[in-house]
Amino acid sequence: MTKEHDEANNALVCSGNSSRCAQIRLVASDPEVYEPCDDSFALVDALLAERANLVEFKPNLCMEIGCGSGYVITSLAIMLASQGRTGVHYMATDLNEVAAQVTCKTLEAHGVHAEIVCTDIASGLDRRLVGMVDVMVVNPPYVPTPEEEVGCHGIAASWAGGEHGRRVIDRILLVVQHLLSIRGWFYLVTLTANNPLEICLMMREKGYESRIIVQRSTEEESLHVLKFWRSKDSPPQRESNTANASSDSSYFTLPRWAFWRGR
Ligand SMILES: C[S@@+](CC[C@H](N)C(=O)[O-])C[C@H]1O[C@@H](n2cnc3c(N)ncnc32)[C@H](O)[C@@H]1O
Repeated sequence: MTKEHDEANNALVCSGNSSRCAQIRLVASDPEVYEPCDDSFALVDALLAERANLVEFKPNLCMEIGCGSGYVITSLAIMLASQGRTGVHYMATDLNEVAAQVTCKTLEAHGVHAEIVCTDIASGLDRRLVGMVDVMVVNPPYVPTPEEEVGCHGIAASWAGGEHGRRVIDRILLVVQHLLSIRGWFYLVTLTANNPLEICLMMREKGYESRIIVQRSTEEESLHVLKFWRSKDSPPQRESNTANASSDSSYFTLPRWAFWRGR
C-alpha cells in the first residue's frame, strides 16, 4: 500500500486497498506542528497490520505520546470504531501547545473524542494512569542532534533527539513501563541510528518481548516500528544482565538478528 499527500483535498489518502485505511484530513496544519510524514505513515501502517489483533485485544485505554497533528491517534480511533470497538478511551500528549490544539481540531473534524494534554511526555498524568494504558503509540523525536536542541517547545521538538536520537526515547521508555497495563502493548517508531536492538534488549531486561511490525527504508532514513509487550514468563524489573540477555533468545522474538547489522 502506498500513501500520498493530496494537496488539492488537503488530505492524507491511501491508495491500494483503501478499505484498510482511515483517510485523515489535515484540517489545521501549522508551521510549528509536525506534518504527517513517512514515520507517521509507518506507525499507522503498523496499527493497520495489527488491526485484527487490536480488535481482539479490546483495549480500554489507548494513548499517544507526542501526537503532533493528531494523525496517528485519530487513525487509531477511527480504525477501532470501524471494527465496532466502542467505549475505548483515547488520550494524547504533546509538549507543543500548538500541536495539542491542532490534534483537537483533527479529532473533532473526524468525529472522534480524545483527551489531549499539553505536557512533557506524561508529566502530571502518571499517578492517574499508572498500569492503565492498554495501547501506547509513540513516534518520538528520534533524529540525532546536538543536545541543546532537545526539548524546545516549537517544531524542532518534533525531531531533535540528542545523542543517537535517544534523549527523549529513553525517557519515554521509562514512563511507558510505568503506564502500561499488565497486558499492554507499546508501538514505537525508531531509526537505525537509535540502535533499536539495544532498545529491545533494554526493554527485555524489564520483562518485555519485542518484534518488528513494520520496516521501511527511504532515501533519507531506515525506520522500524517495534511492538513491545510484557513477557508472561519473566518477572518485570529484572536485574540488568546484557551478556545473559543476548544469549537467551527464548522470549526475544525479533525475527532476524542479522537485520540490525550493517545499517
Ligand atoms: C516526530 S513528531 C510525531 C508527531 C505525530 N505523532 C506523527 O506521527 O505525525 C514528534 C512529536 O513529539 C512531540 N514531543 C517532543 N518531545 C516531547 C515530549 N518531551 N513530550 C511530549 N511530546 C513531545 C513533538 O512536539 C512532536 O509533535
